[in-house]
Amino acid sequence: MKYSPSFRIWHWLNTIVVLGLLGTVFLRKTFLSWRTNSEILMNKLLEMDIEITATQAKVLAKAVRAGMWEWHIILGYALAFLLIYRVYLFFTFKRTKKSFSSLSTHKKAVRASYYLIYATLTFMAVSGLIIHFYQDLGLLKDTAHDIKEIHELVFNIIMIFVPLHIAGVIIAENRDQKGIISTMINGEK
Ligand code: HEM
Ligand code: HEM
Repeated sequence: MKYSPSFRIWHWLNTIVVLGLLGTVFLRKTFLSWRTNSEILMNKLLEMDIEITATQAKVLAKAVRAGMWEWHIILGYALAFLLIYRVYLFFTFKRTKKSFSSLSTHKKAVRASYYLIYATLTFMAVSGLIIHFYQDLGLLKDTAHDIKEIHELVFNIIMIFVPLHIAGVIIAENRDQKGIISTMINGEK
């Protein structure tokens, strides 16, 4: 067996969680953006003869966004647990894996992209938890803000990896690695 059942379950749960996290970011930056929505609120209220300031509109727009953004934190915890579980899997399930040096250049790049994404996800989980608990950790708001900027910057690596990874396995499936996707479902080689 190439992948144990627990490894496959891990991969798909991780997929759901990461896509979910990207979904919350997408919503925060588009339909639930406080900049856009505070303007909509101000304008629509004005049409009803209610005038509110930009600061008040911002409070309202952020309140509308809050319930959705809670999911970023919930899925964030899930990601942190999944990463811990991945470490456990690493030590308990030894799979037959070719050594890095024996791989073709292409496979080396693929393997390297996995190392990069594991490191990136770990960074996102650690930095995300730090921003979320910055007060409990005794950090200044400014420090939390700086970490958030890096969290947001590193998010781009995930944005690049996910489509490349999905396109990559689909292309491989259609070329010389028939069954690569079903192997991640049924575990067999
Ligand atoms: C794949 C993993 C993740 C991605 C791609 C991601 C992405 C992002 C992005 C892009 C932002 C900036 C949003 C903005 O200001 O427009 C952000 C903010 C944040 N993320 Fe994550 N994140 C991930 C994981 C986590 C985890 C594991 C946690 C921890 C619970 C977390 C907690 C936070 C917090 C607290 C903020 C700041 C929100 C605020 O300023 O109100 N994130 N995340
Ligand atoms: C957003 C989400 C995803 C993330 C973060 C992710 C992450 C990963 C990682 C880290 C590996 C390497 C596992 C290892 O060997 O340690 C992997 C392998 C794999 N993933 Fe994903 N994955 C995602 C989505 C998907 C999707 C949607 C598909 C199917 C269409 C897929 C199909 C595969 C396959 C077939 C492999 C094995 C590839 C190989 O043998 O090189 N993944 N994925």
